[in-house]
Amino acid sequence: MPPGHRTLRRDSPGGRRGRQELSLLACGPAAGRTEGGDPAVSTSVQPPVQPAQTESPLLQIENLRKTFTVRSSLLGARRELVAVDSVNLSIPAGSTLGLVGESGSGKSTLANMVSGLLAPTQGQVLIEGNRVHDGRGRVSLRGDQGAQIVFQDPYSSLNPRMPVRRLLAEPLQVAPRVPRAEREQRVKELLDQVGLPESAMDKFPHEFSGGQRQRIVIARALARRPRLLVCDEPVSALDVSVQSQILNLLKDLQKELGLTYLFIGHGLESVGFMSDQLAVMYLGRIVEQGPAHQVLGRPVHPYTQALITSSEAVPFRDGGTVELQGEIPSPLNPPSGCVFRTRCPLATDICAEKRPELTPRESTRLAACHHR
Ligand SMILES: Nc1ncnc2c1ncn2[C@@H]1O[C@H](COP(=O)(O)OP(=O)(O)OP(=O)(O)O)[C@@H](O)[C@H]1O
Ligand code: SF4
Ligand SMILES: [Mg+2]
Repeated sequence: MPPGHRTLRRDSPGGRRGRQELSLLACGPAAGRTEGGDPAVSTSVQPPVQPAQTESPLLQIENLRKTFTVRSSLLGARRELVAVDSVNLSIPAGSTLGLVGESGSGKSTLANMVSGLLAPTQGQVLIEGNRVHDGRGRVSLRGDQGAQIVFQDPYSSLNPRMPVRRLLAEPLQVAPRVPRAEREQRVKELLDQVGLPESAMDKFPHEFSGGQRQRIVIARALARRPRLLVCDEPVSALDVSVQSQILNLLKDLQKELGLTYLFIGHGLESVGFMSDQLAVMYLGRIVEQGPAHQVLGRPVHPYTQALITSSEAVPFRDGGTVELQGEIPSPLNPPSGCVFRTRCPLATDICAEKRPELTPRESTRLAACHHR
């Protein structure tokens, strides 16, 4: 067990998903209390998160690149912004890949390409071996074959004029269609899966708390029985007191339905809790990747070290700290060589001249650094 590892236990008032546990990699601030209930927090020992022992990749991302054409002013020249560059990732079925990085590093752009909302400029995304995009910018998978996405903000994700019954039935009307007679039963099943009562069916989004709304968003994402969920900061907009409940719900659903997750977050604590594997992104590129507990416990890349240093929840424990200087550079004008060099205390001449490629470290990890 890594030092500082602990489990928070909470007992929420009733419901099939009542008991809440949040395993932390370190002694950070308690992640919350139950919705509407008092926290009953005790510490206990739990083994560290282990990489899942699973079969072939459910998601494969190959050499993915996304550029946007932007203008700096109304009459300014068009310029190319590289949001995602040369990303290769895979996620075994039934496991979770966490993706972290500062704001603007390209996480959502990657998530949107995986879920079919954006077409790649180059490269491809495969789910169970099938291409998500047809090469001409169109999505080539049905809803149940592709990924569903859970966004950060449960307020803007739900149409405020629709009752929950319609919000959850709507995705069932798209191919593969669920017969009308079976829809009501499926809606009830979905509500049960996310821990909401049947009586929620006739209510509107404004009648729910933020956490309950996010449960409805998750139920909607599950409606078409996808195998892959892309969670783009699913708890960032929620009160700290309910974040752990949603994270635990996602964990329970993964176990119950055999789901695979691409889980994006800012907080290393929550991403570490959720993930088997962890990828660290900087200016559109993956700079480090490996089992989550190794990346967080013994980071190789100075940027990962810096993220951990700046996180209160996961103190860097092995080898020193790196303070992040300044802001992430503009992707319109990235540094030559290693894109992290303008903020890296270890940078030398070669870092300005040559871009470091992701190469194996130990048997389980990858990192892109000339000096580590
Ligand atoms: N539609 C777009 N047009 C132009 N630039 C875009 C567009 N979408 C994203 N970008 C740019 O691409 C880069 C990556 O953005 P992205 O939203 O993927 O980052 P992120 O890691 O999700 O950030 P955050 O943590 O703030 O959500 C940013 O520089 C952003 O300004
Ligand atoms: S390649 Fe150089 S600049 Fe980049 S992270 Fe490594 S030491 Fe720092
Ligand atoms: Mg984002």
